[in-house]
Amino acid sequence: MKFFIDTANLDQIKEAQDLGILDGVTTNPSLMAKEGIKGEENILNHYKTICDIVEGDVSAEVISTDYEGIIAEGEKLAALNPQIVVKVPAIKSGIKAIKYFSTKGIKTNCTLVFSPGQALLAAKAGATYVSPFIGRLDDISSDGVELIHKIVEMYNYYGYDTEVLAASIRHTMHILQCVEAGADVATCPLSAIVGLLKHPLTDSGLETFLSDYKKLNS
Ligand code: G3P
Repeated sequence: MKFFIDTANLDQIKEAQDLGILDGVTTNPSLMAKEGIKGEENILNHYKTICDIVEGDVSAEVISTDYEGIIAEGEKLAALNPQIVVKVPAIKSGIKAIKYFSTKGIKTNCTLVFSPGQALLAAKAGATYVSPFIGRLDDISSDGVELIHKIVEMYNYYGYDTEVLAASIRHTMHILQCVEAGADVATCPLSAIVGLLKHPLTDSGLETFLSDYKKLNS
């Protein structure tokens, strides 16, 4: 499974990259706003900086909702760096734009996906990634992980190349459930990635090893 970090915070991206386990980054307009990045030039520069920090794919989301606008924005974003993946919402003009980008060899991430039908159209249009939002489904008493299972099964059955990128991950159990469901990628907050390491037996075992070593060697 690939790990992407879901943030526009440069310190967190550097920390995850430094761990040696990072495969890419996803951002969205809310995450950019959280970092106070505003104005087109600053936004484009921020994406370039992220691409310099990591080696893998970096999702950059369009703001336009009409077909022509999505195409113009997406082409500008894709020209920044070959690592850029144009993130496009799962709406009618978005699906049409994903089809266009796929014929041009521009990578895409179909975002705001909440149903198998949306994921089906994203794959048929040739999306590189599809992003089902599992946390937001859980928030409204729907089963987010179940959606990952359904999409993975559908893509395997029909042999679609689109990678299932589990998004809106809130905690470590979501990551482990996505592993079980067969997601190709999980995009997570840094806390959820590092949280995978937490185990009381690791902590107490290490404490014992170190104190036993000290007893014999002091
Ligand atoms: O990748 C999409 C993600 O950023 C949404 O997460 O926590 O806002 O639902 P959240």
